[in-house]
Amino acid sequence: MILPGRVYLVGAGPGDPDLMTVKAQRLLAEAEVVVFDRLVSREIMRLANPLAVQISVGKEPRHHLVPQSEINRILVRQALAGRMTVRLKGGDPFVFGRGSEEAIALRAAGIACEVVPGITAAQGCAASTGVPLTHRGLATSVRFITGHCRQDEPLDFDWRGLADPDTTLVVYMGAASIASIAHRLVSEGLPASTPVLAVNNGTTTRERRLLSVLGSVAGAADAALFEGPVLFIVGAVVTLYDGAPLCPILREVTSLERVMAEEAVHA
Ligand SMILES: C[S@@+](CC[C@H](N)C(=O)[O-])C[C@H]1O[C@@H](n2cnc3c(N)ncnc32)[C@H](O)[C@@H]1O
Repeated sequence: MILPGRVYLVGAGPGDPDLMTVKAQRLLAEAEVVVFDRLVSREIMRLANPLAVQISVGKEPRHHLVPQSEINRILVRQALAGRMTVRLKGGDPFVFGRGSEEAIALRAAGIACEVVPGITAAQGCAASTGVPLTHRGLATSVRFITGHCRQDEPLDFDWRGLADPDTTLVVYMGAASIASIAHRLVSEGLPASTPVLAVNNGTTTRERRLLSVLGSVAGAADAALFEGPVLFIVGAVVTLYDGAPLCPILREVTSLERVMAEEAVHA
């Protein structure tokens, strides 16, 4: 009789392989099967056991290559075949990663499952740009929101609660919805001059940054033609961005936006 293998739901971090945990790297090197997402970079996959079976279940925005129910089935099947399986996800598996759904499906099938946390995209982008998520006097709390809703339903937030000048807002998966998010935040009272930093492919050698303000971020982000994941950091903490390039990046900061961001500090 074959004993079921264990499944590890592992966070790969935001992109830079050096930002993976020691445990994540060790499990990846030992795995017999690696089931991975689109956001897991080639550099990270090079750390996998060369003999491991690699199964891509990459999801494009609005285009799920493999439905979640099928991913759950793949994990259960591999574990029942007795294989040590690593389910590798960008960032942290439990932050906008559907890791909890996979953990529930595995538990229901009687399969042992362990979660290995990862550095989130929010933390990675904050660190690589030097913009803190909280800062005494500028932000007393931070909120992570998703700009993408289930089956493209309209965004349903407590907009008044979100438009809080003392909170840093981190918008995940917001490339397609930043226009309506920015509009609603301004309608609910945040100044149009509130600074916004968009980070594209954060922590990788392809990182790009766009400094803007709520009033113009939608057009600026459109014009930037980002490829790959984008995260928006909204709030007074962005005034601490000094633009010092820490890695090869393309900065797109218009002088008008720079002035508006600076005005926001002194407002
Ligand atoms: C499905 S969510 C995954 C979040 C991930 N589990 C985490 O903990 O950060 C994908 C979104 O994360 C953000 N993201 C992930 N990696 C990123 C990166 N390297 N740079 C910028 N944004 C990133 C983007 O907003 C992207 O659309």
